[in-house]
Amino acid sequence: KKNYRIAVLPGDGIGPEIMEEAVKVLSLVAEREGVTFDYKYGRIGGIAIDTDGTPLPAETIAISKEADAVMLGAVGGPKWDQNPGHLRPEAGLLGIRKELGLFANIRPATMHSSMVEASSLKPEVVSGVDLIVVRELTGGIYFGEKKRYDGPNGEVAEDQCIYHEAEVERIVRVAFDVARKRQKRLVSVDKANVLESSRLWRKVTERVAADYPDVELSHMLVDACAMQLVRAPKQFDVIVTENMFGDILSDQAAMLTGSIGMLASASLAEGSFGLYEPVHGSAPDIAGQGIANPLATILSAAMMLRLSFGMDKAADDVERAVWSVLEAGHRTGDIAADRSKAIGTKEMGRLVCEALSGSAVSK
Ligand code: NAD
Ligand code: IPM
Ligand code: MN
Repeated sequence: KKNYRIAVLPGDGIGPEIMEEAVKVLSLVAEREGVTFDYKYGRIGGIAIDTDGTPLPAETIAISKEADAVMLGAVGGPKWDQNPGHLRPEAGLLGIRKELGLFANIRPATMHSSMVEASSLKPEVVSGVDLIVVRELTGGIYFGEKKRYDGPNGEVAEDQCIYHEAEVERIVRVAFDVARKRQKRLVSVDKANVLESSRLWRKVTERVAADYPDVELSHMLVDACAMQLVRAPKQFDVIVTENMFGDILSDQAAMLTGSIGMLASASLAEGSFGLYEPVHGSAPDIAGQGIANPLATILSAAMMLRLSFGMDKAADDVERAVWSVLEAGHRTGDIAADRSKAIGTKEMGRLVCEALSGSAVSK
C-alpha cells in the first residue's frame, strides 16, 4: 500500500479552519484510492512566533523536508503587524519557500461556468478565462538585501532586487513546459523599459525560447499586463514573471474568477516535491467565524495529488466534486450573490466530501 507523508502547516487566522476541510477531503481520497496519507502537523507564522519565538521553527523545516509534500494554510494577522521584519509571520512563509527551494509558483485562474456571476467584471469579459500565472518565488526584491539607516534627511530604506541568469532560466523553462501542455502561448511580463533585472529576464527568456519553437512567446510590460488582465483576460494562456510582479498579478487574476477564496497554488522545487497553499491570506477579518471558503485549500490539495503524487485521477475527482457543489448552487459568503443563503466552511467541506463519495472510485 502506497504511503505519502504530508506536512500540514495550518498557520494563522482562517488557516486552521480551511485546512481541516482539506484534510477531510484528502482522507477520503486516501480511503477511495487505497493509499495512506501520514500527516505531520507543524507550526508556522504568528502561532509559531507565540509558541517558539520564531515564525519558522527548525522542527517545521525538518517535518517539511521529511515529507513528500507540504500543505500550508495561511500566515499573518494584526497581532504581529508591528513586529520587526524577521519576526513577522510572513518571514516564516518566505523562509520555508527558500529553505525548500520552491522557486516555481504555479497559480491557475480558471473561470468555471457556474461562477461567472461572482466576478465583479462583465460575464462576457470573464467567462472562459483559463490562465496560469507562473511566478518566480525565491528571488528578486523579496530576497535581496534589506537596509534601514539614518540619512541626512531622515530615515532611508533599501530593498535590493537581484536576478541571476540561472534563476531566470529555470523558472522560464517551467513556464514553457506548462505552456506546451496547454495552448502554447506564453507571455513573459517584466518592466524592461526601466529595470536592469527585467532586461536580463527578457534576454534569457528569448534564449530559452529557442528550445520551444512550438510555443508562441511574447513580452508585456507589467503595467500593460495589469491593464490587459481586466480589459481582455481571455487573451492569456500562461504568464511568467518575477516574484513581486507575480504576487500582484496573481491576486488580480484571482479576482477575475470571483473570489480569492477559490484560487489554489503550487510552489514547486526541482523534482516532484512541492508546497501547496491557497493564494489568499489569513483573512483576519473573518477568522474564527467558520465562514471562510475552504475551496482554494481543497483545490490546492488536488494540485498536490496531481503534481507531487502523480494521482491524476484522484485530483480530477476532487476538482469535479468542487465544481459539482458549485453547480448545485452552494456558496460561502465570499462568492454568494445572496449572503443570507451562504453556507459555512464546514458545510462546504462536507458537501465536497459528499460529492466525492458519490463519484466513481478508480480501478
Ligand atoms: P487576505 O487574502 O487574507 O484577505 C483579503 C480579503 O479576502 C479579506 O476581506 C478576506 O476576508 C477575504 N478572503 C481571503 N481568503 C478568503 C477565504 N478563503 N474565504 C473568504 N474570504 C476570504 O489578504 P490581506 O487581508 O491582505 O492579508 C491578511 C494577512 O494575510 C496579512 O498578514 C498578510 O500578510 C497575510 N497573507 C498571507 C498569505 C499567505 O499565507 N500565503 C497570502 C496573502 C496575505
Ligand atoms: C502570497 C503572499 C506572500 C507573498 C506574503 C504573505 C509574504 O502575498 O503568497 O502571495 O507576497 O508572496
Ligand atoms: Mn500575495
